[in-house]
Amino acid sequence: MTHPMDLIPAPARVEGPYRCGFVLDRGTTLSAAAGTETTARWLRDTLGAAFGLPLRETTDENATNTVRLRLDGGLAPEAYRLHVLVHGVVEIIGGGPAGVFWGAQTLRQLLGPEAFRAAPVSKRPFAGLAAQTIEDAPRFGWRGLMLDVARHFMPKDDVLRYLDLLAAHKLNVFHFHLTDDQGWRIEIKRHPRLTEVGSWRARSKWGHRASPLWDDTPHGGFYTQDDIREIVAYAAARHITVVPEIDLPGHSQAAISAYPELGNTDVVDTAALTVWDTWGVNPNVLAPTETVLRFYEGVFEEVLDLFPAATSPFVHVGGDECPKDQWKASPAAQARIKELGLADEDELQSWFIRHFDRWLAARGRRLIGWDEILEGGLAEGAAVSSWRGYGGGIAAAEAGHDVVMCPEQQVYLDHRQAPGEDEPMPIGYVRTLEDVYRFEPVPPGLSPEAAAHILGTQANVWTEVMENRSRVDYQVFPRLAAFAEVAWSALPAPEARDYPAFARRMHTHYARLDALGVDYRPPTGPHPRQQRPGVLGRPLEGTPPIV
Ligand code: ACM
Repeated sequence: MTHPMDLIPAPARVEGPYRCGFVLDRGTTLSAAAGTETTARWLRDTLGAAFGLPLRETTDENATNTVRLRLDGGLAPEAYRLHVLVHGVVEIIGGGPAGVFWGAQTLRQLLGPEAFRAAPVSKRPFAGLAAQTIEDAPRFGWRGLMLDVARHFMPKDDVLRYLDLLAAHKLNVFHFHLTDDQGWRIEIKRHPRLTEVGSWRARSKWGHRASPLWDDTPHGGFYTQDDIREIVAYAAARHITVVPEIDLPGHSQAAISAYPELGNTDVVDTAALTVWDTWGVNPNVLAPTETVLRFYEGVFEEVLDLFPAATSPFVHVGGDECPKDQWKASPAAQARIKELGLADEDELQSWFIRHFDRWLAARGRRLIGWDEILEGGLAEGAAVSSWRGYGGGIAAAEAGHDVVMCPEQQVYLDHRQAPGEDEPMPIGYVRTLEDVYRFEPVPPGLSPEAAAHILGTQANVWTEVMENRSRVDYQVFPRLAAFAEVAWSALPAPEARDYPAFARRMHTHYARLDALGVDYRPPTGPHPRQQRPGVLGRPLEGTPPIV
């Protein structure tokens, strides 16, 4: 049995539902106070389409049969109250425009799975609601999903669809991993070869890097600057912040293959490099030269123009997995270390990051990077994505830096979600829906001052073994629903969380996902077409220990 009250993420407080209620029909109007226009448009587009209702605008403050949107500055910006009143009024009151929007997401869930369809499926042009009051607010201000569009390109329409899926789960940060060894996905006008050359590869490893198989279909694609503007605007209309990531100084082979002078030309024939076609940590890193700094400043100038400060206060510079072998072997890099008065190659990595930290700060932005950027000291104001467990995040928070908790042991959604051999291309840890539900973003023992630096949490989706949108859906869902509840709802300690109750609410949520066309992993295991028989993942000789 599905029940519209099976809200995910769970709201803070519900009064009701009562037996009587209210029916949205062709006469239902929308009354949108100043500051709530984005939600009014979204409701008309979404519920209007799903139920075939015009939801005409009204300015009559005493109208009944109406959905009334307004702001109340007494509430926190993302908090909302939703009243379904028996005299035919739905009122959504947000602390700010975002709060109204999250309240509208709750309203959609209350209207049942049909509210998630793109056109009406029944002849009755109405939708019923039980009288009730919901009061709600998020636990964390950063509730994110990172999507790697570098390993496998995701066409623009699919990115927009993911923004809708984030919004439906009250997630508000989209971390857009745009560059890596295997592809450069954002048009940069002053360096056209980044996409002309760097966005295409001849073939791709099929499965884990240890797999002997190749997909010989050329792969690639990129977002034009107008595509990026559209994505940013679409996200903003859903109160989602976009964090663009340009990964440096490692994960840069695609850029080096386009512009060989970016690499360590005294130790490797960078002119012979192509966009990488397999997975893993790549030795071809950027050279520590002024030319490289100027080149990337040019890249970031265009990035800042495309991702305005109002909706992208943070810019991610990567900083992860930068092997130091080429810098150790390169006379030019060694001379640079001496010239800059640095101790070693680790300090060279910090020098890169500090340069862009200052550069971004001077332009009113904040740098965020993977937790390796802590090594060698971190500039003030920089924030850290803690991925190698909690440790980096704890150290950063204790040192006064803001932190986004995204430990790979818990919330890397590329990792397999069941131990069975049917899982498609299984890699990483086994992390089930229940494991994700019991993830706690704030580690115990953190001082209250340090805990205040945990901005929130995000789930990360690396796409080496996800060649298309269906594979991404399979890895992301249903686990993103559990993650959304962890990020939004004030849940008890992990061991005290009521997973059976969550799993029961998921029955309703699966019906919503079905209506949306999400190709999630069914609770009983993958459909045959979702399997990838014979393609090696990371061998299944047991779950690695949690570190
Ligand atoms: C990462 O997983 N390399 C951040």
